[in-house]
Amino acid sequence: MLNVLITAGPTHEPIDSVRFIGNRSSGKVGIAIANAARRRNLDVVLLLGPVAASPAPEHGLAVHRFRTCDDLQTLLNAHIAAAQLLIMAAAVADYRPKPNSAMQGGKFRRTNEPVRLELEPTPDLLAGVGEVKRPDQYFVGFALEPQDELIAAATSKLKRKRIDLIVANPLETMESDQINATLIDNSGVVAAPGMMSKVDFAEWFVDAVLARVTR
Ligand code: CTP
Repeated sequence: MLNVLITAGPTHEPIDSVRFIGNRSSGKVGIAIANAARRRNLDVVLLLGPVAASPAPEHGLAVHRFRTCDDLQTLLNAHIAAAQLLIMAAAVADYRPKPNSAMQGGKFRRTNEPVRLELEPTPDLLAGVGEVKRPDQYFVGFALEPQDELIAAATSKLKRKRIDLIVANPLETMESDQINATLIDNSGVVAAPGMMSKVDFAEWFVDAVLARVTR
């Protein structure tokens, strides 16, 4: 049975113990893909970020929750060796607040002075696992891009992260129930199924990826 590892949802990067920097990812596509893969009887592990409402997981779907990029890195490291297929749909923060004793481990207090929040880059998790990808593994990334640079930007991410396939989506995909995805591999655009619901896309996408992995 194929072992599939899927990541979904945003990360929340703490400013202090009650505040964070996050993004508007709903995790809907990743969760729908995990459920569609599970319905095809695959061995599926879903690493799920801090999303408000998540649909009930299919029977037999293993779900582990993360909050920060660091949490996700720990979970990825624990599960990646067993995975033949990685679908990295999580919207991982690119920057996080730099550790600062005035803010972390407590609550930052209001003053009348302006406050500067210093950010540091997070590690690129997909590029990290892409560097040590085995020949029997197939890695899929996601890219959210402005329409006018959709193909070029997603193609450059595919190559930079050394993955097999990238799903390019226009910025409007976030928070929507619809998706208009373009699948790109190292030979160029391989499929563009048009606008559809995220649930329908997940069904189509799992079959499309399985056909590529098992051919
Ligand atoms: N990703 C990751 N680790 C990060 C940032 C992104 O693993 N720190 C993964 C995402 O899960 C996604 C892919 O990389 O599958 C593309 O994410 P995106 O944020 O679009 O790519 P970036 O390399 O951060 O590019 P940019 O922010 O410059 O558009």
